[in-house]
Amino acid sequence: MSPRPRMILDCDPGHDDAFALIVAAHFADVVGVTTVAGNAPLELTTRNARIILDLCGSKAPLHSGANKPLVQPPVFADYVHGKSGMDGAELPEPSRPADSTHAVDFIIETVRTNEGLWLVPTGPLTNIALALTRAPDLAARVAGISLMGGGRFGNRTPAAEFNIWLDPEAAVTVFMSGAPITMAGLHLTHEFQASPERIAAVEASHPRVGSLLAGLLRFFSKSYVDRHVGFVGPAMHDVCSVLALTHPQMFQTSQRYVAVDVHGNHTRGMTVIDDRHLVDRPAVNTTMLERIDADAGFAAICEAVAACP
Ligand code: RIB
Ligand code: CA
Repeated sequence: MSPRPRMILDCDPGHDDAFALIVAAHFADVVGVTTVAGNAPLELTTRNARIILDLCGSKAPLHSGANKPLVQPPVFADYVHGKSGMDGAELPEPSRPADSTHAVDFIIETVRTNEGLWLVPTGPLTNIALALTRAPDLAARVAGISLMGGGRFGNRTPAAEFNIWLDPEAAVTVFMSGAPITMAGLHLTHEFQASPERIAAVEASHPRVGSLLAGLLRFFSKSYVDRHVGFVGPAMHDVCSVLALTHPQMFQTSQRYVAVDVHGNHTRGMTVIDDRHLVDRPAVNTTMLERIDADAGFAAICEAVAACP
């Protein structure tokens, strides 16, 4: 059994971020959690992270970060996650405030004092880019950056996925930093849908929180099934970035060079993935997650839910 990966989750809960936190709390060593504006304003993503950390019994320190992207004005995804950023259940009030509003300081200090740490961003990359810009040495210190974002197609636009689309300047900094990147893009995460049967399995996994979490998933599911042709449930995007580290055997991967477009009229925020079969092409900067064993992934989610106090 490989040792539990040590990580900082940087997130914008968000329904799928919530399950990424729960899975990480059970299978990884979560050294800290930082929040960023994305699915909802920072105050709400931070509140939601506090609620989920309570639910899974995690005492990990929590620090809030950027309340807007580096360049463009903030845009939220309430049409997917609801006004609270995590609609669908009557959730308990959080038990504790965030430990600070200095996520970037926390990321820099923690990476510098902890060898072999993973950064796991599951929202816009603003905090990670700010940390790498202020402390470029982080790129060589981290074990890697396992991010949810991008893909071979978009969702917010035909070309761009929401996390990258919201802050493409930050994404350029991250992909060009020299840090080892593991990327969970939409071509992978759309394979990982919470079907009604899987939601029922989550509900049955815990006598207290099972029904709460199933309520969240059913709200999230309606947002997806109503808006997508052929979907049976919501894509559990962010969980993939955690499982890639805790259960690498669940994935098929490839090695790719990825760049991010920032100036295109129709392609701003697009992750440009070099799939060419050329001997002479840019050096690889990304381990691309290509396929997931979705049943095994959901079994891990249910195991993590069952482990909640
Ligand atoms: O495009 C999917 C991503 O955007 C996920 O991280 C989801 O939580 C939202 O942040
Ligand atoms: Ca997210």
